[in-house]
Amino acid sequence: MTPATAPHRAYLRRRGRLTTAQARALDELSPRYLVDLPDTDMGADFWLDTFGRDGPLAIETCFGNGAALVQFAKSRPTWNCLGVDVYRPGFGALMLACERDGIDNVHIADSEVLSLLCRLEPGTVSRLSALFPDPWPKKRHHKRRLVNGDFAAAVAACLEVDGTLHLATDWEDYASQMIEVLGAEPRLEGGVAARPERPVTPFEAKGLARGRRVVDLAYRRVVTLQLS
Ligand SMILES: C[S@@+](CC[C@H](N)C(=O)[O-])C[C@H]1O[C@@H](n2cnc3c(N)ncnc32)[C@H](O)[C@@H]1O
Repeated sequence: MTPATAPHRAYLRRRGRLTTAQARALDELSPRYLVDLPDTDMGADFWLDTFGRDGPLAIETCFGNGAALVQFAKSRPTWNCLGVDVYRPGFGALMLACERDGIDNVHIADSEVLSLLCRLEPGTVSRLSALFPDPWPKKRHHKRRLVNGDFAAAVAACLEVDGTLHLATDWEDYASQMIEVLGAEPRLEGGVAARPERPVTPFEAKGLARGRRVVDLAYRRVVTLQLS
């Protein structure tokens, strides 16, 4: 696929205060967990090499401190789990959790997610999730939001048939935007869903403390009829 442009890339925050433990993790554990992303497209062989085994590929983007990804990876030891984000303190936190719990089915890609999805071989992802992507609440900033038409098209392309997309947000108008853009993508079917098994994330906890309502969404990749 041709990489789509990612207009929100300029607004991503890579750096933040690192704890001593996170700094140590970035120094010592990056060779073990960070994926060396190629300039070329990435197919099943690339993930076989990266994880050292075959298995369903689950991607969590916007993983923050990685707690949800850790829980998912522990509950699905046969899955290959990839965290995609750009926030270095989060990389450190996730590496520390993986080291502590002896998790060996997680790797981290330091990348803006849309540009990565556009370089994946179509139909190679079994599950994709983004919990509480930045809400960009001001109307003039809505164009920076991750979940838009380009994202929906990229997700539909990289998911295998019956593969799933899971999203959560606590901004009502972002939930409406997600429902609208994903509803317009014929290869995805779904909508508002019951909360799946996942921990309360740090961003979610802040919203809940302010009385926000969380909306979970789930979609499935379906086969569409190609009329010639
Ligand atoms: C609001 S935080 C939520 C973090 C976590 N999921 C939680 O609920 O606590 C958003 C996260 O998404 C990441 N992020 C935002 N846009 C991204 C993009 N286009 N590609 C990769 N990561 C992105 C940020 O770096 C940050 O870690």
